[in-house]
Amino acid sequence: MRIDVVSIFPTIFDALEVSLLGKARQSGLLDVRVHDLRDYTHDRHRTVDDTPYGGGAGMVMKPEPWGLALDDIAGGVDPRPVIVFPSPAGERFTQATARELSQAPHLVFGCGRYEGIDERVFDYASELGEVRLISLGDYVLNGGEVAVMAMIEAIGRLVPGVVGNPESLVEESHEDGLLEYPSFTKPAVWREREVPPVLLSGNHGAVASWRREQQIERTRERRPDLLAD
Ligand code: ADE
Repeated sequence: MRIDVVSIFPTIFDALEVSLLGKARQSGLLDVRVHDLRDYTHDRHRTVDDTPYGGGAGMVMKPEPWGLALDDIAGGVDPRPVIVFPSPAGERFTQATARELSQAPHLVFGCGRYEGIDERVFDYASELGEVRLISLGDYVLNGGEVAVMAMIEAIGRLVPGVVGNPESLVEESHEDGLLEYPSFTKPAVWREREVPPVLLSGNHGAVASWRREQQIERTRERRPDLLAD
């Protein structure tokens, strides 16, 4: 999978060089390229923002650098990429979104800062690829970078081969609409706290039903909204 990221803070994405995703990049499963939006400016100050038409607080990202960056990265490429703009005003990012995007051969992430990007950029981008505005959750970050880091991790680990044991992807929170069951390892007693005896019983059927009950109980307690869905 090819992933391009456009940002005015490209070094934030240095963190993608470590752990599972770092390994996946080294092995060629993920081809991640990070671009500095300021490289697509032509003035001495490498300006990427300006005051909003109509007035109001804050600054808006200018369309020209975005146009040049998108032409360079997404222009005329085959197949057309999915172009994701992280935004608190977008559709909600879920495990289903991650799974869907993990099937795309080419993702482009455009990280906005300040009060956002000139709206015309989204319309222009839709000429080059499938545009998605996606929110990490109902809160406001200072910019899209941290949201994109989270999305790349959630999407990247679903690309076949990135996570060594594919079974570990199946029994996780949100994959079956429920929260994950609790896990324990040795020792069987730690600081007077015992591992639930059923897990030591060797009875696989009993373990499976206990885990299922735990999933339902936890979901009811912590995330009743998931059961309502
Ligand atoms: N940029 C700022 N806040 C955001 C959020 N909640 N999700 C995605 N991108 C954002």
